[in-house]
Amino acid sequence: MEPTRERAWETLTRHTQSEALLRHALAVEASVRAYARRFGEDEEFWGTTALLHDFDWEIHPTLDQHPQDGAAILREEGYPEQMIEAILSHAEHLDVPRDTQLKKTLFACDELSGFIHACALVRPTGLEGMTPKSVKKKLKQPSFAAGVNRDDVYKGAEDLGIDLDEHIAFVIDALQPIAGELGLPTEAATPS
Ligand SMILES: [Fe+2]
Ligand SMILES: [Fe+2]
Repeated sequence: MEPTRERAWETLTRHTQSEALLRHALAVEASVRAYARRFGEDEEFWGTTALLHDFDWEIHPTLDQHPQDGAAILREEGYPEQMIEAILSHAEHLDVPRDTQLKKTLFACDELSGFIHACALVRPTGLEGMTPKSVKKKLKQPSFAAGVNRDDVYKGAEDLGIDLDEHIAFVIDALQPIAGELGLPTEAATPS
């Protein structure tokens, strides 16, 4: 089976109805894809892995099922083991070593892209003009987007070996082209 983006989208949408969850998948995909380009890696493979990382959350909404029971479904559907292992590695409770660049990237983009999305939702201009400084300030407010694990955000950037400011700026840039799909204001047309 070719684990194409099209195939992954079909798998994802067969198991996921929630718009918020689909947006999360798209945001993590866009971030991981951008890093694949930066690192000269296989963008389709990385993007597809990211798109699928939470595909089973709606049917397995607890950590005694997600993502390990989802992995069985992906295996049945014929997704490559390398992709499945990367997906399993995003879950802290499974202790799968993050020993590849893809695994480190997926983990680093998972919580942060959700957090940046949340920051953009409360700004009139969305992602436009958002700075790493403002994102870091919000990270220090425990009540804001309380579901986002701050330790995972810091650890993700550290394990990836990218300075947090740079990582935040990179993910903001990566999300900008799909702002519309994320339900955010799109870049205003500027006179040329
Ligand atoms: Fe997850
Ligand atoms: Fe996720």
